[in-house]
Amino acid sequence: MVDINRAASRIAVIGTGAIGRAVVHRLLGAGRDVAVWNRTESRAADLVTAGARRARSVREAVSSSTLILLTLTDYPAVEQCLAQLDTDLSGRTIVGMYTGTAGEARLAARRVTSLGAQYLDAGIQASPETIGTDAATILYSGSRHAFEQHTATLELLSRPRFVGESPEAAAVWDLALFGVWYDAQLGLLRALDAARAAGIDVTEFARTAGSQLGHVVTAVSATVSELHQAAYPPGPANLTEHLTVVRHLIDLRAGRPLGDGGLPEVAARLDALIAAGRGGEGLTATVG
Ligand SMILES: NC(=O)c1ccc[n+]([C@@H]2O[C@H](COP(=O)([O-])OP(=O)(O)OC[C@H]3O[C@@H](n4cnc5c(N)ncnc54)[C@H](OP(=O)(O)O)[C@@H]3O)[C@@H](O)[C@H]2O)c1
Repeated sequence: MVDINRAASRIAVIGTGAIGRAVVHRLLGAGRDVAVWNRTESRAADLVTAGARRARSVREAVSSSTLILLTLTDYPAVEQCLAQLDTDLSGRTIVGMYTGTAGEARLAARRVTSLGAQYLDAGIQASPETIGTDAATILYSGSRHAFEQHTATLELLSRPRFVGESPEAAAVWDLALFGVWYDAQLGLLRALDAARAAGIDVTEFARTAGSQLGHVVTAVSATVSELHQAAYPPGPANLTEHLTVVRHLIDLRAGRPLGDGGLPEVAARLDALIAAGRGGEGLTATVG
C-alpha cells in the first residue's frame, strides 16, 4: 500500500512523446520527483538519465504517484493505459492531456472516478517548445478540488486555466479554439488558391486578405454582445445581401482542392431565415 502523504509531491508522466518529454524536462528542472513510463521503453531512456524514475508498468507509475499526467496520442491510448489499472486509486489525480472529443472526456472521467481517483481533462493550447513558458495555455476541466490541489504543479507547465466542472469543458474549448484557427487559415488558403488560379499576384492579394482577417478580430466583442442581447443588426450587410455573396463564393470555389467550406449549408440557413422574414438582420442571426 502506497503512503499517499509520503508520495504527495510525486508525479507520473505516462507517454513520453513530444509533449510528455517537454513536461518531464520542465518538472525535473523545477526539482520535482517524476516517474516516467512509455510504451516504447527506449524513448524514455534519456529522461531517466536526466533524473526521472523509470516505472516498469503503468500500474507502477500510478501507484507511486499522486498526480498522473497521461500525455498520450489520443483517447484509445488513454483507455489502454487506464485498462491496466484495477486497484483503489483514491487520493490520486489523473489528468488526460490529449486532444479528444467531449464524449471521450466523459468516458475518461467515468473510468478514472470509478477507480476512486479524481479526473481532470486537459486541452493543450501549446507546442512542446512553449511548455513551461507564458506562451503556453493549458485548459483544465473536471474536479475543481483536484485542480486547486495541484495548481502549483500545473503552473510549472503553462498558464493553467480551469474552464468548468463538467469533464468535457476543456475538450470543447480546445476543439472550438482549434476550429477558429482552422476556419481562418483554411479560408485564407481558399482565397489564395482562388486568386492564384485566376492569375492574380498572391503577394499583393495577401496584404488585403490580412486586413480582412483583422476585421474578424476587431468584431469579436461586438459579435459576443449581439449573441448576449439576441439582437442582430445588419452591420455592413444584411442576410439577403450575404446570401448573394455566399452563392458567388460557392461558384468561385467549385472544383478547387479545398472545396466550398460548407457554404451550401450556410446558404440554406440564410435562405431559411430570409423566408422567415429576417433578411434584414446581420450574420450573427445564423446562430442566434
Ligand atoms: N505536439 C504538439 O505540438 C501538440 C499541441 C497541442 C496538443 N497536442 C496533443 O497532445 C497529445 C500528445 O501529443 P504529442 O505531440 O506528445 O504526441 P507524440 O509525440 O506522438 O507522442 C504520443 C505518445 O503516446 C504514446 N502512445 C500512443 N499510443 C499508445 C498506446 N496505445 N499505448 C500507450 N502509449 C501510447 C506514444 O508512445 P510510443 O513512444 O510508444 O509511440 C507517445 O509516448 C496529442 O493528443 C496531441 O494532439 C500536441
